[in-house]
Amino acid sequence: MKKVLRIAGYVLGAIVLLLALSAAYVNVSALPTYEVKIPEYPAFKPDSTMIAEGKRTFNLVCNHCHMAESGKLEGKFLPEIPSMFGKAWSANITSHPVYGIGNYTTPELANLLRTGIQRDGDYVPFMPQFNHLTDQDLQNIIAYLRSDAPELAPSDVAHPAVQPSFFGKLLCRTMFKPVPYPDKPIPVPPAGDAVALGRYLATGKLDCYSCHSPDFMTVNSDEPEKTPGYLSGGNELNDLEGHPILSRNLTPDKETGLGNWTEAQFIMALRTGIRPNERPALRFPMMPYTALTDEEAKAIWAYLQTVPPIKNDVDKIKK
Ligand code: HEC
Ligand code: HEC
Repeated sequence: MKKVLRIAGYVLGAIVLLLALSAAYVNVSALPTYEVKIPEYPAFKPDSTMIAEGKRTFNLVCNHCHMAESGKLEGKFLPEIPSMFGKAWSANITSHPVYGIGNYTTPELANLLRTGIQRDGDYVPFMPQFNHLTDQDLQNIIAYLRSDAPELAPSDVAHPAVQPSFFGKLLCRTMFKPVPYPDKPIPVPPAGDAVALGRYLATGKLDCYSCHSPDFMTVNSDEPEKTPGYLSGGNELNDLEGHPILSRNLTPDKETGLGNWTEAQFIMALRTGIRPNERPALRFPMMPYTALTDEEAKAIWAYLQTVPPIKNDVDKIKK
């Protein structure tokens, strides 16, 4: 009996030691790097319509993370990232060849935005992967990034590298990983189908669902609508001062979601931040989507009506 206990003790000791060693390894080693497989990307000639639409999309999707106080796309500290994941600065994406993305080719940019792998094989933590963006939206964004817009003029501002916490590093070895480059074309939603357009905006383009589902850790980026608690809120983010702020329930549940809102109230909140209830105007990191067209705002609303209602009273969540 004693011998059995002793052996069990050794085994347990060995497991603890192994865990401690792997934790130490994860903590001191750099984030994993990945093989860079540059996709075939057709050459195209950007015209002014593509650049203008790319800029509008960029303003809706990317600007809040990359726009510095200087008014240039120099990158900045991102206060909304919960400290349990670490600290992050977004990149300088001006056309500077060293500090910006002046040396990226078009296929390299497409690969980075779709998969999350930079041209040197590093993974971009803390930036969403745009693997559901339509080919057209992606192309417009690239056309804009390569344009001579003043906010993209070369800047030599450099930021510290991202500093993931131990937990953040652990996640970068387990859950937060590059996604494959899409193996088929991603077409625009059929014209006139508001629900399809709304689904695309809420999941593929504007990423409402990842903030508005209960936990970044359980987001299903392959099939967004299969995310547990889809769009029912309660995800903890940080406000500008670093205090926790919870996302809200966007499902049509009457008591805890948007079930009693009207389309006009929703559009008003989305575009201006002003809510139809006693709560204050929407706070960071929920930025008003001023550049949304009427058609797009209505489409998101139409889509939200089709989402299963979930009872989740965000005000009662204690984190
Ligand atoms: C949630 C914030 C966030 C959003 C939204 C975001 N980014 Fe980023 N971006 C980052 C961070 C963080 C990095 C990485 C910085 C690092 O690795 O040091 C990054 C890196 C990049 C890089 C890589 C630069 C390099 O030097 O390799 C490019 C290009 C880029 N972003 C473009 C975009 C575009 C285009 C969009 C919108 C389609 C976008 N980003 C949306 C946070 C964001
Ligand atoms: C970066 C994370 C993030 C993204 C992306 C995001 N939201 Fe939010 N949203 C929040 C947070 C946090 C709040 C709570 C803000 C507050 O209470 O002041 C919120 C609040 C709201 C509210 C108010 C609901 C209520 O009950 O008061 C609406 C409506 C809303 N978001 C819709 C959207 C839509 C639609 C999208 C996509 C187009 C979106 N959000 C994208 C984080 C986000």
